[in-house]
Amino acid sequence: MKKFEKSVRLTQLPEQFFASLAKKVTERVIEGHDVINLGQGNPDLPTPDHIVQRLKKAAENPVNHKYSPFRGMDYLKRAVASFYKREYDVDINPETEVSILLGGKAGLVEIPQCLANPGDIVLVPDPGYPDYWSGVSLAEAEMHMMPLLEENNYLPDYSKIPEETAQKAKVMFLNYPNNPTGGVADESFFKKTIEFADKYDICIVHDFAYGSIGFDGVKPTSFLQADRAKANGIEIYTLSKTFNMAGWRIGFAVGNASVIEGLDLLQDHLHVSLFGGIQEAAEEALIASYDAAVELKDTYEKRRNVLVEELQAIGWDVKAPKGSFFAWFKVPEGFTSTSFSDYLLEHANVVMAPGIGFGKYGEGYVRVGMLTTEERIREAAQRIKKLNLF
Ligand SMILES: Cc1ncc(COP(=O)(O)O)c(C=O)c1O
Repeated sequence: MKKFEKSVRLTQLPEQFFASLAKKVTERVIEGHDVINLGQGNPDLPTPDHIVQRLKKAAENPVNHKYSPFRGMDYLKRAVASFYKREYDVDINPETEVSILLGGKAGLVEIPQCLANPGDIVLVPDPGYPDYWSGVSLAEAEMHMMPLLEENNYLPDYSKIPEETAQKAKVMFLNYPNNPTGGVADESFFKKTIEFADKYDICIVHDFAYGSIGFDGVKPTSFLQADRAKANGIEIYTLSKTFNMAGWRIGFAVGNASVIEGLDLLQDHLHVSLFGGIQEAAEEALIASYDAAVELKDTYEKRRNVLVEELQAIGWDVKAPKGSFFAWFKVPEGFTSTSFSDYLLEHANVVMAPGIGFGKYGEGYVRVGMLTTEERIREAAQRIKKLNLF
C-alpha cells in the first residue's frame, strides 16, 4: 500500500516514553501473569451516579443533538464560576474568564500554540507531565527545564533560571499537587511565582488536575487564590480526577481574559465544543454535592497510608506524598529508574513507572499510582519484600 510521509512537525513530536512500558505490561498479562499495575494514572473508580444519571437524561434532549455553541454552554461557564467561588472563594467572570476544554490535556497542548512563537521559550517542570512537551513541540518553541528537587520540596528555584532565558520565556507550566512527585504548593509559593513571572511577562499556566486531592487535612491551594494571579496567568482544571470522569474528556481553563480569548480562538478552529449531554453532566458535577469528591480523596489517603506503611515495613525508605494520587520513591542503590521498573515487572509482576520518563531529573525515582485497592497495594508490597532488595 502507498505510504504517505509524515510531516516534519509530526516527526519532531516527543517520543511517547510510556508506550513501551505499556507494551511490556500487556505482554506479561497476555502470558498469563497476575500483574499489579501501579504504573498508570487512570482513576479506577466509577463516576458518581448522579452525574451519570444527568447524562442519561441529557442524552434524550434533542437540544443536545445539535452542535453546541462553539465556545461551550453558558450554564456550564456559570457552574465553573460558582464552583471556584464555593471551593476557593475566587471570583470568575463566566463570560470572559472561562474556556471549556476537551479535557485538561487539550488545553495544556493548545496553550503554547496560543502564546509562543517559534524559538520562544516555555518553562517546564522536570520531572513533569509529558503532555507539556507536546504543546511546546507543536508550537515550535523551546523548552527550558525547571528541576523539581526533593530538597526544594519539588518546587522550582527561579533564581536558577538565567536572565536571558527568563527574557525569552513566554509561558511557564506548573502543576500542584504534582504529577509525578506528589509535592504541593502554598499561596506563598504562588506569590513568589507571580513576582518572577510578572517581571518578565511570562504567562503562568497552573495545571490543577489534582486540585481535589490534598492529604493530612491540607486542601490544595488554587493558583487563582494568590494576589494578582489573574493578571499573570490561568489555571487549568479537569473533571477527570475530582469526579472520576477521565473518559468523559472535559475540563476548563479559568483566569486571564486575554489568554482565555486566545484558547477560545484556537478552539474555534479545532473543535465544536463538546456534546451537550457531557456539558450538562459537568454542570451537575460542579454544582451538586461535593461529598463524593471528598470521599474519593479519603480513599486515596487511606491507600497512601497503606502503601507507605507497607513499604516502610519491608525496609524501603519511602516518604509519603502530600497530594495527588501518585507517590514518588527513590529506587534502591544499583538500579536506574528503568532497570528497577523492569526488574519489578519481571520478578514481582508489579508495575511502577520509571522516573526518567518524566524528564532527566526523574532519574533515580519511580512513580507509584495509588489506583488500586488497599488489598492489591499490600500484595504488591509483599511481592517486593520477597525480592530482598531492602
Ligand atoms: C498533571 C496532569 N495534568 C493534566 C492531566 C490531563 O487530564 P485530562 O486530560 O484527563 O483532563 C493529567 C492526566 O493524567 C495529569 O496527570
